[in-house]
Amino acid sequence: MTIHTAPTHDRSHIVLGIGGGISAYKSVDLVRRLKERGFEVRVVMTQAATALVTPLTFQAVSGHPVRTSLLDPGAEAGMNHIELARWADWLLIAPATADLMARLAAGIADDLLTTLALATNAPLCLAPAMNQHMWRHPATQENLQTLRERGARILGPAEGDQACGDSGPGRMLEPAELAEAMRPQAERRLIGVRTVLTAGPTREPLDPVRYLSNRSSGRMGYALAAALTHRGAQVTLITGPSALPVPTVAEVVQVETALEMHAAVLARMADCELFVATAAVADYRPLECAAQKRKKDAELLTLQLVRNPDILAEVAARESPPFTVGFAAETEQLEIHARAKLAHKKVNLIAANQVGGAVGGFDREDNALTVFWEGGSRALPLMSKPSLARELADLIAEHYRGADATAT
Ligand code: PMT
Repeated sequence: MTIHTAPTHDRSHIVLGIGGGISAYKSVDLVRRLKERGFEVRVVMTQAATALVTPLTFQAVSGHPVRTSLLDPGAEAGMNHIELARWADWLLIAPATADLMARLAAGIADDLLTTLALATNAPLCLAPAMNQHMWRHPATQENLQTLRERGARILGPAEGDQACGDSGPGRMLEPAELAEAMRPQAERRLIGVRTVLTAGPTREPLDPVRYLSNRSSGRMGYALAAALTHRGAQVTLITGPSALPVPTVAEVVQVETALEMHAAVLARMADCELFVATAAVADYRPLECAAQKRKKDAELLTLQLVRNPDILAEVAARESPPFTVGFAAETEQLEIHARAKLAHKKVNLIAANQVGGAVGGFDREDNALTVFWEGGSRALPLMSKPSLARELADLIAEHYRGADATAT
């Protein structure tokens, strides 16, 4: 099932949203500074913003027509809003007013900018700018928390004298600071990187109604597929059975058994650049799957199991392997077992998690990982799986790009 195709270019595209705050005038300079850093910028303004700075000013500095309305037949005939949402590698909103943040937190799409925020896969970065009382108001702080939890990156605000005469937190960061803050974002990108990611459990049938499986929900793998997609990777998600809605990625392949997952992965290896094995693949399958439901006539039933192929090890052993990231699910001696898997399966990174305990691991909302590589490791503490996936995706991008640089 093909859901959508991710961008395959190697550039950093920013849609810069301008909210109706007095600091909108500073964003003219922001466009210039982002362009100096190699970003291509398209500007979208709210109606309120156009009362403060003219679209023509932003058109002059960005070199492209400025979009202000969702219902503009002329503009929609060019790059329509869905194309613009797909074009974006980043959606940066500066200034982000209290009202805009509230609408974004509520998922309201009543103008072009808020519609784009819902329609795009690109990470959202917000540079808040408002009066200090508005910033401190519990409603704004709750909206901020909601947006943060969904993965928005909040840049600022700064403290100091405000246009309204107050002094306190709420000043938009300076254009130079914002442009600098976007630089590491660009370094974390995986734009167009062809990625295959396995997720969820496998089911190994015993007869037409029974199977052997494990407790994997698919949550960790789905969150990671989404986080890698947000960084621009073109992700094929190969998933075992899961009750969760699949994330929006380039391609989704549903499988049931380890052998089906093995075949689906190998069929996509020719041009794969990054392979991530989050799935809890059954190590063994029943030697025989009975054609009819097994009867309970024996007091003691002995099942014969046969080893499944090790998908991760096989991918890593290819002549020109992709960059490989494995997981290790351990109930004890996390580092010893994870490092043994790193060496034995010859993978680039291994993300180890403690399973079977009171927190984290299989079928939980939260998890913690320690990521090992030859000569190093990084601990990612207990947090929600989407947050953890974002941290891990950044780490993968860092190492992937490092490996790329070494190879060239
Ligand atoms: O899905 P959730 O409920 O969110 O739970 C997440 C998780 C605990 C399943 C996930 O974080 C995790 O640890 N996934 C790997 C589970 C596992 O099978 O670990 P392992 O140590 O047995 O396997 C090591 C690695 O080899 C894994 O990357 C696994 O995908 C891979 N493998 C294993 C066996 C096999 N036949 N083929 C493989 O590719």
